[in-house]
Amino acid sequence: MDFEKLIKFPEWFGEWNKKNPTDIYGPVIVMGALGTAVIAVIALFAFGQPFATDSLQTGPRGIGMSVTEFKSDLAKPDPGIAALEEIGDLDGDLIKAMQAWTGIPDLFENVDSYQYGVGAMMIAMTQNINENWAGHVYANGEVGVTCYTCHRGQPVPSEIWFSIVPVNERMDGWAAIQNRATSLSQSTSLPSDALESYLLDDQTIGVHDLESRVAGIPGQDDYPGIQHAERTYSLMNYFANSLGVNCVFCHNSRAFYDAGQVTPQWATASLGILMVQELNNDYIVPAGALLPEERLGPRNGDEPKVACKTCHKGYQQPLQGTNVIGDWTQLQSTDEVVELP
Ligand code: HEC
Ligand code: HEC
Ligand code: HEC
Repeated sequence: MDFEKLIKFPEWFGEWNKKNPTDIYGPVIVMGALGTAVIAVIALFAFGQPFATDSLQTGPRGIGMSVTEFKSDLAKPDPGIAALEEIGDLDGDLIKAMQAWTGIPDLFENVDSYQYGVGAMMIAMTQNINENWAGHVYANGEVGVTCYTCHRGQPVPSEIWFSIVPVNERMDGWAAIQNRATSLSQSTSLPSDALESYLLDDQTIGVHDLESRVAGIPGQDDYPGIQHAERTYSLMNYFANSLGVNCVFCHNSRAFYDAGQVTPQWATASLGILMVQELNNDYIVPAGALLPEERLGPRNGDEPKVACKTCHKGYQQPLQGTNVIGDWTQLQSTDEVVELP
C-alpha cells in the first residue's frame, strides 16, 4: 500500500525519507530483548526462583545420595490433610468416623449389606497393621493407619490394582506379560505382573549375584535370570513412584545388590513388602469374596488389591507423616473389640 497517498506528508519529507533509509527493526529487537531481561531479573528478585530445589540427603556426604524436589512442590501440602481436618474427630464416635473416612454414610447400619461384612474385616486388618506392623507405620513417629489412610472418603480406595496379564494375548510365556506400556509396568516395556509376583505371591526379588556364570544357569539353579531382573526393576519403579522418591532414597546406587550399603528406609520398605503380602492374602482377597461383580477386575475378575501407593499416594509418608491414629485407641490393637450396631 502506498502510505504517501493515504496520509499526505509534505513533499520534502518523502524526499528526505527516501534518501535516508533507516533500519528500525534491529534496534527494536535489541530494546525488546533488553527490556524483557530487565523485567525477568526484577521478577526473580521480587518472587524468587521458580525452579529452586531442595535435597534430602540420604547417604554419607559427597557421594550424591540425595532425593531432589522442587521447593514449590514441597510447599504444597497433600490435599488429603486438609480434607481430614475438615472431617474432624466427630466427638470420638468411631462408627461415624468410619462412615466419613470411607464415604459410606450408612456403613454398619445394615447387617445384610456386603459392606458390613467387608467393613468388619477391614477393622481387623487396620488393628493388625497398627499392632503388628508398627515397625513400618510408626517408623519415624506416631503416624499409624486408619481407614482414611487408604479410603480418603471413597468406598473404593484410589491406587488399588488388579491383575492385567496377559497383556499380549497372541504371545505365550514372558512375551505375554511385557512390552506393553501399562499402569502396572509404570508405562515402560517392563513386565506388568511385578505386583502380583512380589506383593501377592512372595517370589524372590533379585537382579544378579556376584557368582561366576559357570556356577549355575541364571533363571534356573536359584540364580535370577534376565526376566527376574526386568520384573524386579518394574517393582522398583513402582516403589519410587509410590513414594515420590528416587532409587537412592533406599539404595546406594553403586551396589544395588548389597544389603549392607542401604539406607534405613530400605529396612522400612522391606517390612512394607511383607506387610503388603499379608494384607492381601489374609484380608483383602478373602474380603473380596463378598464383593459384587462390578467391583472386580476388568481383565481377570479378581478383587481390588493394595500395594504401597494405596497408602502412600505418591508421598514419602502417607499424608506427609500426619498422626492419623491419634486417640482412636480401638484401632490400635487386635485385642480391642469394636461394638458394631
Ligand atoms: C490398607 C488399605 C485399607 C485400609 C486401611 C482400609 N481399607 Fe477398606 N478397602 C480397601 C480396599 C483395597 C478395598 C477394596 C477391596 C475389597 O473390598 O476387598 C476396600 C473396601 C472396603 C469396603 C467395601 C466398599 C465397597 O463399596 O465395595 C468397605 C466397607 C471398607 N473397605 C471399609 C473399611 C473400614 C471401615 C476401614 C477402617 C476400619 C478400612 N476399610 C480400612 C483398603 C483399605
Ligand atoms: C522405598 C525403598 C526403595 C526404593 C525407592 C527402591 N528400592 Fe530397590 N529395593 C528395595 C528393597 C527393600 C529391596 C530388597 C527386596 C527383597 O529382597 O525382598 C530392593 C531390591 C532391589 C534390587 C535387587 C537387588 C538384588 O538383590 O538383586 C535392585 C536391583 C533394586 N532394588 C534397584 C532399584 C532401583 C533401580 C530403584 C529406582 C528405580 C530402586 N531399587 C528403588 C527398596 C527400594
Ligand atoms: C497400610 C498403609 C501402608 C502401606 C500399604 C505401605 N506403607 Fe509405607 N508407610 C506407611 C506409614 C503410615 C508410614 C509412616 C511411618 C512414619 O513416618 O512413622 C510409612 C513409611 C514408609 C517408609 C519410611 C519413609 C521415611 O521417611 O522414613 C518407607 C520407605 C515406606 N513406607 C515404604 C513402603 C513400601 C515400599 C511399601 C510397599 C511395599 C509401603 N511402604 C506400603 C504406611 C504404609
